Amino acid sequence: MTSTRRERAPAVARRAGPPSRSLTAVSQPSLPGPIPADRPARGFSTRAIHAGSEPDPATGAVITPIYATSTYAQDGVGGLRTGLGVGYEYSRSGNPTRTALEECLASLESPDGAPARAFAFASGLAAEDAVLRSLLRPGDHLVLGDDAYGGTYRLISRVAGPWGVEHTATDLTDLDAVRAAVRPGSTRLLWVETPTNPLLGIADLAALAGIAHDAGALLVVDNTFATPYLQTPLAHGADVVVHSTTKYCGGHSDVVGGAVVVGHGADAPWADGVGAVPGDVATRIGFHQNAMGAVAGPFDAWLVQRGLKTLSVRMERHCDNAERVVAFLAGHPRVTAVLYPGLPGHPGHEVARRQMRRFGGMVSFRLAGGEEDALAVCKRTEVFTLAESLGGVESLIEHPGRMTHASVAGSALEVPDDLVRLSVGIEDVDDLLADLDRALS
Ligand SMILES: Cc1ncc(COP(=O)(O)O)c(C=O)c1O
Repeated sequence: MTSTRRERAPAVARRAGPPSRSLTAVSQPSLPGPIPADRPARGFSTRAIHAGSEPDPATGAVITPIYATSTYAQDGVGGLRTGLGVGYEYSRSGNPTRTALEECLASLESPDGAPARAFAFASGLAAEDAVLRSLLRPGDHLVLGDDAYGGTYRLISRVAGPWGVEHTATDLTDLDAVRAAVRPGSTRLLWVETPTNPLLGIADLAALAGIAHDAGALLVVDNTFATPYLQTPLAHGADVVVHSTTKYCGGHSDVVGGAVVVGHGADAPWADGVGAVPGDVATRIGFHQNAMGAVAGPFDAWLVQRGLKTLSVRMERHCDNAERVVAFLAGHPRVTAVLYPGLPGHPGHEVARRQMRRFGGMVSFRLAGGEEDALAVCKRTEVFTLAESLGGVESLIEHPGRMTHASVAGSALEVPDDLVRLSVGIEDVDDLLADLDRALS
């Protein structure tokens, strides 16, 4: 599309389902409807494999094709094609491969079939940016955790900040501190990661939802570490979920992507006038997704959806391997602390047991020998690759202070310099343990 004059109001009504779903509903949003009372919700793995991806009506292709097209032929001016891919006119506004991914993510994050809406972005930070710009305006305030992902903090403090959005970073495990940080009338979002990156802190989602809602704010949860397989924040009162799908959702370290999932009925009445679009939270995010344009391309959307199909089996294996790694590290004389919410001694263990299926594949630990020792261990592993990112099938090791979290050095979010973070992959666990043993010797 070359002329902005020709762009019609890009709202929910222009998004449509994949070809197999919306053949009669040209202008209807593609929402997964509530599950009828007489039909139980399908299990997680079934939805991960089938939601959003029914066989292609034109060819029977079992896997959603990569619709590598920027535009769509129209049956007359203003008449979108109704035979295949109903409702599509331009791939920033909508693309069937992206829609398939969005339907799958919405289904996986929806508690009890309550229809959530999902939006796929070019990266996790693009997804977060869309949330901030859709819902906040100058003078608004948000509260976030004091060990949030460094890139999230950078976005909030150094991009949203200069535009007039204020923030307070606080310890989200201390509910009184959170209550004290909230400014009634101007705090609009409570931004939560659980487990956190890289300190594996656990926040009580139900309690934080209560605090946010009492203040008229929304609870936004970054569910990247847990994934919807281990935790569904909307079921605990969250209003919006964000993901770096780069991580476990994609699962193979071959794509960068992000997503926003909006819970059914989430509203942000204070945002009227922001972004020039009225409506509920999903409408606002949908508007900004198109208006700002940081969308997931069809190749990337396809890769993430392929990853989702195996999410449950991968997460089980990540958890199995992480538990063995934790047991090994906990008994090692050079390790002073192992941070893993599955450990009974972890301060968030009971909360994690309540809101998570298992405890995930991320493990951090601290070394008696300080930063020098931490850097040396990172250098010596062979199966654990020294690299940023996480959540892929291969095991990774990194030094957060010098790598992923270098951008928060000197801030309230600075991480200890003796800390090492592992993304425990799904290789043979004995090889992982031998690798760590060698590196720590
Ligand atoms: C918890 C968390 N949220 C968000 C992001 C940002 O995602 P992306 O790198 O896909 O932009 C990351 C990246 O590491 C992350 O770990």
